[in-house]
Amino acid sequence: MSEWWKEAVVYQIYPRSFYDSNGDGFGDLQGIIKKLDYIKRLGTDVIWLSPVFDSPQDDNGYDISDYRNMYEKFGTNEDMFQLIDEVHQRGMKIIMDLVVNHTSDEHAWFAESRKSKDNPYRDYYFWKDPKSDGSEPNNWGSIFSGSAWTFDEGTGQYYLHYFSKKQPDLNWENEAVRREVYDLMKFWMDKGVDGWRMDVIGSISKHTDFPDYETDNSRSHIVGRYHSNGPRLHEFIQEMNREVLSHYDCMTVGEANGSDIEEAKKYTDAGRQELNMIFTFEHMDIDTEQNSPNGKWQIKPFDVIALKQTMTRWQTGLMNSGWNTLYFENHDQPRVISRWGNDGELRKQCAKAFATVLHGMKGTPFIYQGEEIGMVNSDMPLEMYDDLEIKNAYREVVIENKTMTKEDFRKAAAKKGRDHARTPMQWDAGKHAGFTAGDPWLALNSRYQEINVKESLEDQDSIFYYYQKLIQLRKQYKIMVYGDYQLLLEDDPRIYCYIRKYQGKKLLVVVNLSEDKAQFEAPPELIHERWKILISNYPQEPADLTGMCLAPYEAVMGISI
Ligand code: GLC
Repeated sequence: MSEWWKEAVVYQIYPRSFYDSNGDGFGDLQGIIKKLDYIKRLGTDVIWLSPVFDSPQDDNGYDISDYRNMYEKFGTNEDMFQLIDEVHQRGMKIIMDLVVNHTSDEHAWFAESRKSKDNPYRDYYFWKDPKSDGSEPNNWGSIFSGSAWTFDEGTGQYYLHYFSKKQPDLNWENEAVRREVYDLMKFWMDKGVDGWRMDVIGSISKHTDFPDYETDNSRSHIVGRYHSNGPRLHEFIQEMNREVLSHYDCMTVGEANGSDIEEAKKYTDAGRQELNMIFTFEHMDIDTEQNSPNGKWQIKPFDVIALKQTMTRWQTGLMNSGWNTLYFENHDQPRVISRWGNDGELRKQCAKAFATVLHGMKGTPFIYQGEEIGMVNSDMPLEMYDDLEIKNAYREVVIENKTMTKEDFRKAAAKKGRDHARTPMQWDAGKHAGFTAGDPWLALNSRYQEINVKESLEDQDSIFYYYQKLIQLRKQYKIMVYGDYQLLLEDDPRIYCYIRKYQGKKLLVVVNLSEDKAQFEAPPELIHERWKILISNYPQEPADLTGMCLAPYEAVMGISI
């Protein structure tokens, strides 16, 4: 089957925050349909929809109670079929979110499962007896704080949940569960869906002996290596490929928590018939202090060298087998310019600089809604966050364990809280940024009058048109898709510089990721080449691509001629 997904650029939509067509303050499928021409104009090929299935919305739809019907605030199945059709009419493709590590506790399977120990659905989930003292079966933690086990009075056992207690983990050891998943995948693919983003797919195979983590007792609940890459992971994915994926010309991207490059090759090496690509997390963890009891909230400053090292390891690690995704933002990762850059005076240059670093690389780029107009983190006070991850973490690390002060937590949340990516899309400078005629489910970012789609479309020099051009260049120059990657100036603390090589040509990417000026001197082997500049983010293009003084966040990409 063709590998069209290698040449594609993906646009991710978080439906509840994209566009509300009926004034209930909540984005919907008809709203997405109304904005398809906008996405088409950007030039992306594939749309990824975060979950739109029926759900009690404990984790904003990542807790599904019915895989075959839409959540009513999003619309009906007819709306979804229309969306698929309208996307296809515009020559684009659409992938959905497959959330099958867990379901909602309100899914009919779980409702049955919890009824009795001999219910036919009991083994759809993991149930375990308490330890002799009545405590949890082991010390595994939930990624959303606390224990990964919740006691169920009715049958006197605990059930497993890696996320909230309303997200019980499915038991993939049970063949009937796997059949159910394959059937629902076929259901949607037969309706025209072009593939899947697979939520926490790295966790579907469990270590079914459920060993305790070793601990020095400073932490009672631990999230670690047992939470992912269980012994049957690749066997399950290969089965899914054989049973479902291989029958469709589709695209797959797995969210592969806990994977390193060797694991990534297992998923994405074409010969192994698993997935096309995975989302990895190492580059998103460069601002986290490792091994802290405060997890992702123990932040450390952004470091250009750390970014270069991590990205380069993945670029070279998957150079000859497998395939990378390229992303800085999604519904779990806040706005990159606020997190690692400058979202004030230098916002526009900075957004273009990060875009250049990413889109010049080898892999499939993912753009998250609003990234293309340079949306920034919100300034909402702690009390206004909506996300259960933040609420639970605050309770655990600030109130109960007291391992962080409220002020430090607030600072970390301002950088890394997931809600920053989830504030409604800013369409114009009007009321509620044109997102809704009603009351938005989450407060708009206070800067919407300055940062919005209308403004971006009216300004020829906008971030939007810069992204549009990067996407066009990827279509025009195969070197951007297929060229080998090589890092230059690895020790430079400000400049991210690399070359791509393909069929005798070179592509040079030079980006100053700092607020200072930075002197750039290309290595001798590049000085003798002649270069054509393809894109740059300052009005005055540099006269010489191989030797220049870069302004703050200046970015240039050129090709040898
Ligand atoms: C993934 C999703 C995240 C969700 C979690 C549980 O990490 O991206 O939003 O909370 O899985 O489904």
